[in-house]
Amino acid sequence: MSEENKGWAIAQREPAQAPVAVIGAGVMGAGIAQVAAQAGHPVQLLDLRPGAAEAAIGQIGKALQGLVDKGRLEAAQRETVLARLRPAAAVSELADAVLVVEVIVEKLEPKQALLRELDGLLPPEALIASNTSSISITALANGMQRPERLVGMHFFNPVPLMKLVEVVWGAETLASAAAAVEQIARRWGKTPVHAKSTPGFIVNRIARPYYAETLQLLQEQAATPALLDRALRAAGFRMGPCELMDLIGHDTNYLVTQSVFEANFGDKRYQPSLVQKALVDGGRLGRKVGKGFYDGVPAAAAPVEPGTEELPGLVLVGQGPLVELLAGWAQQRGLAPRRRIEADWCGLELDGLQLHLCRGRSAAQLAHERKHEALAVIDWPVAPERADGLAIAFAPRVSAPQREQARAVLRRLGWEALVLRDIPGLAVARTLAMLVNEGADAVWQGVCDEAGADTAMKLGVNYPAGPFDWLAQLGAPAVVELLDALFEAYRSERYRVSPLLRQRIWGA
Ligand SMILES: NC(=O)c1ccc[n+]([C@@H]2O[C@H](COP(=O)([O-])OP(=O)(O)OC[C@H]3O[C@@H](n4cnc5c(N)ncnc54)[C@H](O)[C@@H]3O)[C@@H](O)[C@H]2O)c1
Repeated sequence: MSEENKGWAIAQREPAQAPVAVIGAGVMGAGIAQVAAQAGHPVQLLDLRPGAAEAAIGQIGKALQGLVDKGRLEAAQRETVLARLRPAAAVSELADAVLVVEVIVEKLEPKQALLRELDGLLPPEALIASNTSSISITALANGMQRPERLVGMHFFNPVPLMKLVEVVWGAETLASAAAAVEQIARRWGKTPVHAKSTPGFIVNRIARPYYAETLQLLQEQAATPALLDRALRAAGFRMGPCELMDLIGHDTNYLVTQSVFEANFGDKRYQPSLVQKALVDGGRLGRKVGKGFYDGVPAAAAPVEPGTEELPGLVLVGQGPLVELLAGWAQQRGLAPRRRIEADWCGLELDGLQLHLCRGRSAAQLAHERKHEALAVIDWPVAPERADGLAIAFAPRVSAPQREQARAVLRRLGWEALVLRDIPGLAVARTLAMLVNEGADAVWQGVCDEAGADTAMKLGVNYPAGPFDWLAQLGAPAVVELLDALFEAYRSERYRVSPLLRQRIWGA
């Protein structure tokens, strides 16, 4: 990519002297126009459908009235903002704009045709942005006379509320153009994160395992959607994967997965799920049609009543970040279990019953290899402040009283035992490890930096932490061991470990 010193007009002028045009007055275009007008720009709004721009301005007026009613905007300010918005009837009317944001239908050809037309119309100091969520910025810029001035400006829905903007670089994008878009996003009250144009950019790529691992567990009959949602919510996620897919819509979620899968030439890492395909095929598209995994909105689980027994024989076994998470949580719950640091496993032991912290092997495999029948595997307790449930899987010959004892231990720690079929990686462990792995590969491949990956996931999809936050919390050895075990169990490239994580272990 070549660099030259461009004087982008939008970076140099006061908003009132920096006209912005938004093309496409749908859900996203209206939101972007509102945000630009609130930041002080005169805004022209253009849509192919007659009356759509006027209707969008009407919608913006209602949204601003909502802010006035809540006392967040003066009535006079509402009028000022609305006065900045004007519908346009043709692309030729946008020649004065110093920034044009393309927000039309998600198809390559119409976007390319529009961008070429704009490129021919606008002076060299005007920037062009696209809000595409899945099309390559490099491909969109193909055919433009000045491809270096096209930057992805990926907003999230609903635009006025969501803070994240992915600033996406195509192969030809100038650093100064991306820097100018970053600066505009900040002035518009957003948090920009830079991304190289690759399938899914940052958020839609790193988020894939959140859905994929749960869909895999469902395909393997591990548990019900409600149980898996509960396990992931207890790890700090605002919504479980199944309820979230129901909210997004299975058609949309499936399409995004398919597009990332195909754009990666069929990489198994991103393979869509038969479970979701069946939902789409059967019309169970989620909340918008009243049925998906759930019929309507799922009911909240009753709060857990923590146990109060003393458990004098309880021993905390092993060492490492996950054991320390357990130790900290036991202490908060008024328990002081004995410690046995020297051990070849990690977890809790009570009267011969071993609860192994998940390392990617099933309870059956561990019981068989260790010749110890009274054994279960427990999930990663990453967010004890949100304690509610913790996944557990029993080895085949654990007796009924021992199962009850295991439940009692978890209850004493504040968790309902969420019993899963004995599948390697349980729910939270495999999901977090794969999220960390995907974030690590994105950084390894230069898509974004570590801070950008964390910010994008926290602001774009409201995750409680980003992949590198979790990596710092859990340590690379635990994540890599788990992924290697899944790779072995499934013999699938899907669980291949990112070179970045291996390097982390080697201290490189
Ligand atoms: N909906 C989301 O959650 C979301 C999030 C991020 C990005 N995006 C992206 O934003 C873009 C728009 O999405 P949306 O959800 O607002 O879609 P939408 O269907 O609500 O709006 C698209 C609008 O563009 C208009 N249009 C189509 N072709 C046009 C043309 N050649 N010239 C002028 N107007 C034209 C349509 O009439 C329609 O009003 C897409 O690229 C989409 O991938 C959507």
